[in-house]
Amino acid sequence: MHKNRELWLAFLAIVAITGIYALVVWQTRAIPAAGGFFGHALGILGFLLMLMTETLYSLRKRARRARWGRMADWLQFHIFTGIVGPYLVLLHTSWKFNGLAGVVTALTVLIVISGFIGRYIYTRIPRTLDGVEMDKPSGKLQAAALLSARRALAIWHAIHIPISMALFTAAFIHIGAALYYATLLR
Ligand code: HEM
Ligand code: HEM
Repeated sequence: MHKNRELWLAFLAIVAITGIYALVVWQTRAIPAAGGFFGHALGILGFLLMLMTETLYSLRKRARRARWGRMADWLQFHIFTGIVGPYLVLLHTSWKFNGLAGVVTALTVLIVISGFIGRYIYTRIPRTLDGVEMDKPSGKLQAAALLSARRALAIWHAIHIPISMALFTAAFIHIGAALYYATLLR
């Protein structure tokens, strides 16, 4: 559990959610409709988790002198909600991907894949250069590796963040339109 704790917890949550979803399918003998009670709840809950993913870690990151929680824990929480939220939203879709809602789903899948790539790069950056003897060849090698990993993360940021912005822009339009047409005009 120790090193990949957030991935294990996300996996357990996914198993539990899948169990509940299967139970509903079994009870109703139907795929939950996206605009029905259960499907709607999945979409709202999933989207709330995704909103938390988008905002909380960034807020904590910018509050440098804050004492509320270690950065490492906030990143773990980011990854947990960043996996479980999209999974709930995936079950919300009722496995139909027409129009803008389909685009929102595609962007959601993309941001999760991108997140895993970022996590991989991130874990390759040593937290400090403590203990590295810079005058030794091995020390120089480590410093070079650190620099290239930092560069890779900067490039990755420049891709991951615009995807998330496109995602939330499209998602808000989907939500507005879905509520207007499917809920209010029903
Ligand atoms: C990122 C989050 C979301 C994604 C990726 C998403 C995706 C989708 C998809 C793929 C569909 C099915 C479209 C089709 O029938 O082809 C759908 C339907 C729907 N969504 Fe979402 N959704 C999200 C969030 C939400 C939220 C938060 C709400 C409500 C507040 C919502 C309300 C609805 C409704 C009411 C429908 C049914 C529309 C209808 O029956 O015509 N969605 N969504
Ligand atoms: C709903 C899904 C997700 C959204 C909306 C999202 C959004 C973001 C945003 C906006 C940032 C920039 C934070 C900042 O520098 O202020 C970020 C960073 C990051 N995200 Fe995500 N993310 C999602 C899912 C994931 C997933 C699933 C993972 C890992 C498996 C992940 C790993 C990371 C990592 C490693 C960083 C960089 C941390 C840093 O440089 O300090 N994200 N994410």
